Amino acid sequence: MGDFRNDSLDQLHADLEAANLAPTWLYVSEFVSKQPRVSYRPWLWRWDNVLPLLMRAGDLVTPERGAERRSAEHVNPDLRPFYSTSHTIATAVQLVRPGETAPAHRHVAGAIRFAAQSKGGPVYTRVQGERLMMEENDLLLTPSWTWHEHRNETDDDIVWLDALDFPLVNLLQASIFEPGEGQVCPELGDDFSRNRLGLYRPAGWGGYPNGQPVVRYPWVEMRAALEAQRHEKGSSFDGIILEYVNPLTSGSTLPTLSCRAQLLRPGEHTLAHRSTASTVYFVIAGQGATVIAGTEFAWAKGDVFVVPTWAWHEHRNGDSDGLLFSITDQPVLESLGMYREQALEELGGRQVVVDHFSP
Ligand SMILES: [Fe+2]
Ligand SMILES: [Fe+2]
Repeated sequence: MGDFRNDSLDQLHADLEAANLAPTWLYVSEFVSKQPRVSYRPWLWRWDNVLPLLMRAGDLVTPERGAERRSAEHVNPDLRPFYSTSHTIATAVQLVRPGETAPAHRHVAGAIRFAAQSKGGPVYTRVQGERLMMEENDLLLTPSWTWHEHRNETDDDIVWLDALDFPLVNLLQASIFEPGEGQVCPELGDDFSRNRLGLYRPAGWGGYPNGQPVVRYPWVEMRAALEAQRHEKGSSFDGIILEYVNPLTSGSTLPTLSCRAQLLRPGEHTLAHRSTASTVYFVIAGQGATVIAGTEFAWAKGDVFVVPTWAWHEHRNGDSDGLLFSITDQPVLESLGMYREQALEELGGRQVVVDHFSP
């Protein structure tokens, strides 16, 4: 032990640093902040800008040049190093041309696909050997570590929205990817999951295999469910909003992501709130605006926008039905006991618009 009679606080700080220790009494605000510290801004990608670029990729990115991954990520300008849309969610638009396939693989990251533009027919994602058809606005799950491949056997292009939790998986440094070779999973019938996950299930035989269920949520069913509840009051913050639930648990769509569809009725203007979850929206139909942290983001069909964690937001719909699909990391926060939500109490629950977004 040294002689501490001439010790000083400055010397102690220097010695702590040299020993790779940090004095909490100096840096407490670095560890624990009073409000969430959010490192990225809200943003919006216009379909009219995105689609022509994707179609150019359709011509230039041929199967020899990587067409099996012909997708464009929605990269938040503040999250460029992570290629992500919010800090936990990455979305992208993908174009698959007639006759194209993407080979089977699996990864720890969980994914969903939402068919943004499809003429129907035999275009599908095969998940664990089961074909999930992709009609317009259908939602398909490829849960963590499930084998999946894509095939477009139609004469038409398909464009879908991908959403993955890979930014979160990468933060946890848990990413594993495995390419498939040959036959990697059993050929299950097209309705395998539907028959085992519906209201009528095999009794005493052929139960659903362990793991997260492979599900296709047809848009016709979701649209009908929204319509059936059109005259309910709904949520003050979201209108008629429905979650795509996991049929085994009735919990969130995936453990990391909750998918929702919402109906904003003509002229509906919701109240503002904020939470410790982040959300990415895709506009299925309609025209309106979402005010995020005081900036108005006008939206129309095909646009994608992101509401960061702890950002006040409210939706203002136009004069026809507004239909939004969204993906949120709320289940992560909830399962860890970190979910908090707040309603704006001043100004009758609505924000003052100080700016209008232009990219
Ligand atoms: Fe994948
Ligand atoms: Fe919200």
